[in-house]
Amino acid sequence: MIENRISDLITESELSVLPIEQAETIPSSWYTKEAVYEFELNNLFNTSWQIVGHTDQLKKSGDYFLFDLTGNPIIIIKDGNDIRAFYNVCRHRGGPLAFEAGNTKLLQCKYHGWTYKLDGTLHKQPNFSGVEHFNKKKFCLNPVNFTIWEGLIFAALDNPAINLSEVLSGIKERITPIDVSKYKFYKRVKYKINCNWKVYVDNYLEGYHLPFVHPGLSKVLDAKDYITETSINYSLQYSPLKDNDVYGMGEAYYYFIFPNIMLNILPGRLQTNLVLPLSKNQSLVIFDFYFDDVTSPDSVKRIEKDIRFSDEVQQEDIMICEKVQKGLESKGYDKGRFSPQEEMGVYHFQALLKSFYSKVLTHFN
Ligand code: FES
Ligand SMILES: [Fe+2]
Repeated sequence: MIENRISDLITESELSVLPIEQAETIPSSWYTKEAVYEFELNNLFNTSWQIVGHTDQLKKSGDYFLFDLTGNPIIIIKDGNDIRAFYNVCRHRGGPLAFEAGNTKLLQCKYHGWTYKLDGTLHKQPNFSGVEHFNKKKFCLNPVNFTIWEGLIFAALDNPAINLSEVLSGIKERITPIDVSKYKFYKRVKYKINCNWKVYVDNYLEGYHLPFVHPGLSKVLDAKDYITETSINYSLQYSPLKDNDVYGMGEAYYYFIFPNIMLNILPGRLQTNLVLPLSKNQSLVIFDFYFDDVTSPDSVKRIEKDIRFSDEVQQEDIMICEKVQKGLESKGYDKGRFSPQEEMGVYHFQALLKSFYSKVLTHFN
C-alpha cells in the first residue's frame, strides 16, 4: 500500500511547519521517490481543481475539446447552452469517443460505433440484440466534476475538499480593474521538463534566481520590488513593471494556486501555467495565452513578441530546473534553508504541502 510505503519515507519532524526563519526545505526524497509521486498523484492531484480549457473553446452547441488529466482522457462539450464534462471513455469496452477537438451532434465511439447524446446518455449500440438485462440508463458516459471561473474551465477527478470560488477568493478584487474574463484564447504551448513537478513550482515562487538565470527578464522586472503576499490557498508575487517594450507599463501579478496552477496577469494579458506530473522526475507544463485583443495586426505583433520572450524565459527555467533535479537526486543534497526576504512563496508552498501530507497520512493511520 502506497500510504504505508510513504510513512516510511516521511518522518513526523519533516511534516512540522516551523517559522521561515527556522524552517528547512522539504527533503530531496520528496522529489525523487516513486512512492511520493504515486501518493501525490492519487491524493493531491485527483482532489484539486485543474485548468483544462476555456469557454472560448466552446462557442456553439456540439463544440468539444479533449484534455488528458494525469492519464485520464476527458472530453468537455457544449450541449445547447450547457457545458458538460465526461471521461472520453466508452462504456462498452473503453474506446475513445473522439481523437481531437471538433463539433458533433452525437458522440460516436471510434471502436465499435456506440453513440451517446451530448448529455452523455447512451443513444444507440449497433448489433446488440439478444443481450439480456441490458439497462441503457446504466451505460451513460461517466461525468467529470468541473466548474468555471472567469471563463476558465477547471476539472477534478475526485471531489475536491474546497470549492473553487473559495480557493480563488480575493483574486478578482485584488486585480481590479483588470477583467481577465474578457480576454480571448490565443495559443497553447506545452513543455516537457525533466524534473519533478515541485522543482518547477519552487522555482516559479521566487525572484531570487532572476539576476542569475534570467538576464533578459531582469531588465523588465526588478526582484528587489517583488512583494510576496500569502493567502490560505494561494500566494501572489507582485511587481511593478519597468519601462520595457514587451509588456508595456503597469503591474505584474503572479498568482500561484496550490498545488500546481499559475495565473500570470500582466497588462492586457493572462497566461496560465498548469504543472502536471508525468513521473517522479518528469513534468508537463502547459501554457495557455489569453489577450484582450487577438485580432488587430499591432496587437498580434505584440503577442508574438510576448510569446517569444516567454519561451526564452521558460528555456532558462527548464535548464536550471533540470540541473536542480539532478542535484536533488545526487548524494550531495538533502535539505536546505530559506531566505525570509526572497523565498516566502516557496516556504508557503512547502508548508501547504506538508499540511496536506499530514492530513492525508493522519486519515490513513
Ligand atoms: S468500445 Fe465503444 S463501441 Fe465498443
Ligand atoms: Fe525563472
